Amino acid sequence: SVFAASETVLLSAPPRGETSWSEAIEKASEFVSNLTLTEKIGVVSGGYLYPSLACVGSIGPISRLGFDGICFSDGPAGVARSDGVSVFPSGITVAATWDRELIYRRAVAIGEEFRAKGAHVVLGPSTGPMGRHARGGRNWEGFGPDPYLAGVSMNASVSGIQSTGVQACSKHLVANEQELQRTSSTAEDGTAIEAISSNVDDRTLHELYLWPFADAVKAGTSTIMCAYNRVNGNYSCANSDILTTFLKEELAFPGYVISDWFATHGTENFANEGLDIEMPGNVSTLAGPAYFGDRLLEAVNDGIVSEERLDDMAKRVMSPYFRLGQDDSFPTVDPSSGPVFLTYQFGHGSPLSAYYPEVDARDVRGEHAAIIREIGAAGTVLLKNINGALPLTNSSNVGVFGNDALYPTVGSVYFDIGGHSEGFEWGTYDIGGGSGTVRHTDLVTPLEAVQEKVKSFGGRVQILLDNDKITEGLFKTIYPVPEACLLFLKAYATEGVDRSSLDLEWNATQAVESTAAICPNTIVTIHGPGVVHMPWADNENVTAILAAHYPGEETGNAITDVLWGIVEPSGRLPYTIPKTLADYGPDIVESPERNATDGWQSNFDEGQLIDYRHFDAKDIEPLYEFGFGMSYTSFDMSDALEVDVTANLSALVDESQGIEPGGFIDLWTRVARVAVEVSNIGSRTGHAVPQLYVAFPQDTTPEGTPVKVLRGFHKVSLDAGESIAVQFELTRRDVSFWDPSAKQWVVPEGAFTFMAGFSSRDLKSTFETSILA
Ligand code: NOJ
Repeated sequence: SVFAASETVLLSAPPRGETSWSEAIEKASEFVSNLTLTEKIGVVSGGYLYPSLACVGSIGPISRLGFDGICFSDGPAGVARSDGVSVFPSGITVAATWDRELIYRRAVAIGEEFRAKGAHVVLGPSTGPMGRHARGGRNWEGFGPDPYLAGVSMNASVSGIQSTGVQACSKHLVANEQELQRTSSTAEDGTAIEAISSNVDDRTLHELYLWPFADAVKAGTSTIMCAYNRVNGNYSCANSDILTTFLKEELAFPGYVISDWFATHGTENFANEGLDIEMPGNVSTLAGPAYFGDRLLEAVNDGIVSEERLDDMAKRVMSPYFRLGQDDSFPTVDPSSGPVFLTYQFGHGSPLSAYYPEVDARDVRGEHAAIIREIGAAGTVLLKNINGALPLTNSSNVGVFGNDALYPTVGSVYFDIGGHSEGFEWGTYDIGGGSGTVRHTDLVTPLEAVQEKVKSFGGRVQILLDNDKITEGLFKTIYPVPEACLLFLKAYATEGVDRSSLDLEWNATQAVESTAAICPNTIVTIHGPGVVHMPWADNENVTAILAAHYPGEETGNAITDVLWGIVEPSGRLPYTIPKTLADYGPDIVESPERNATDGWQSNFDEGQLIDYRHFDAKDIEPLYEFGFGMSYTSFDMSDALEVDVTANLSALVDESQGIEPGGFIDLWTRVARVAVEVSNIGSRTGHAVPQLYVAFPQDTTPEGTPVKVLRGFHKVSLDAGESIAVQFELTRRDVSFWDPSAKQWVVPEGAFTFMAGFSSRDLKSTFETSILA
């Protein structure tokens, strides 16, 4: 299998079409050579030839060439705005599994649903934002703030999606870290206000924010979405440093750059700097002006965008289509996609309904509930478990408390692009809001699942869901006090607005205190986007804490499996939980001059030192550290760490080996192996997640080098008493830093320290060695 323990870094599944890039590019060139000028413009301008609301973006068909067009849908956790689809676990949830195979299998299942709906492109996976800011509204869509974990997740996601013949669109490039002023706007007095500019140095970009995009390109991502924000003063979608120098030259990315929706603000400057297609383009008058389409045609006619560049754009757009075999019997767009989209936006009977007759949806869910349930449990992180609280035995007297336990009283489409940072009061959050949400065809709530479970062995469930009432004292009416008080609480996050705080919402903090004041076995489950504030974590009546993230539609079954120990909560934190917001590092950036044209500047002065790197550098004690999570059993690790370094390594990349998508081939070659033994010293089967951290030699790397960085992990299942050897493989990239003046990855001289353990603060064995001969 590609996931065998010894092959961590070079994993890459072939796309369904198994056509090489070069063959695909040839086919695309042939196709483009047969297009008229207007047709070429159509291929690179969303909605130009054929505006359609069946997909969130589309390229119109060219029937004389047998081309049916391309349908783009959100993404990333299932087919958005559709019926008959699954709501998958969010990116942060699957990152919390630290399990390459589950990440891959989730992506395959997502790809299958897109394909069955006739959607050619998943607008996902996301690794921007990464999570520089704990309050970022969209952190949950991606894989967290560590570039190595995010990179592995991007690779597995792109590979999984594309194994089904569906294009992956990796987004949002780059440093798209906050929702506040993410894009341009107009002040009341008419002043144009530019989008926030993320001002990031080249080294930080390479080693942190661009890193996971390199993995996506390595895995063959078809397309990359440029972000709303500016980077170092230029719009991401017109930023040749990022799009041309980094992406197309350094990484040899052969696919196309697509603009985020309405992130194109010009014609020739965008096309010439590296943008290949504008979205959504010419969809409706509501959408405002399109900058490609007719304007691009004019620019080509005037010679300010060369026809050669236009051909390049069109070839890039068409290459993945041929590479994945989408020219061969790709399913047509589900006729329900239009009406479902319309009712979602405007309700029944809108003027546009005439074009999109209401028909039943194709049910494309297949058997996906099983993997959703599996990931829901595997992405749940057990943060605290005292007094033998978990797993539950068949306690017959159980309480279900808190406003996150029930079905949302607002229905199945309960999230929209945020204008406010709070969700709704009543009902569980299994996914966040905005374009990344998925409409529910099914949802199993915690309340339902726990009730079913407890009734199955003849027990009873007492229910009190109103956090305010719990806080006001109604908890005293609970009689008898349950053996286990299961308290379900939540935090909302959505596209369009950042979170107002890290607190759990709707009086949740008080609800914990009030429950724990009476119930000595209060077990808190959190459904949220990642970093949350838990001032009650040390309360001795709070016996267990589970960070269940946004688990998707099987949320109730997944948590019930975990609570009763049918499966383990085998997740580990893919981010750090601080004691307070102030401890976390840079907060969302406000402008001192909100209405000034160029007033929004976000200076990434901390460089690479975000999340655990910040806690390490500043020596701050987190509440729960990156990589942490408990099991129902316990593990140990041998203190002997074996490191085997490739001999005769040179400091610089050997360019003569060539370049392919992902960059210089030599950068991806293996240069070291590290092995360590892990044992299950508890009394039941469980999953260990051994992690490898590397400290670069401080005196031979420039200032700003993190104290240590994650460079390997495995998830392994061990029976009680079992020991196994775990091997990590490191590529040249893993032991290099980016030297901005040389524009090169460099392996520094001097001793590296390799450290293995079970979290970023639980390191069991270390070994020092230099990499260079
Ligand atoms: C804007 C979002 O930023 C992006 O992620 C999404 O794919 C598009 N809208 C389309 O909905």
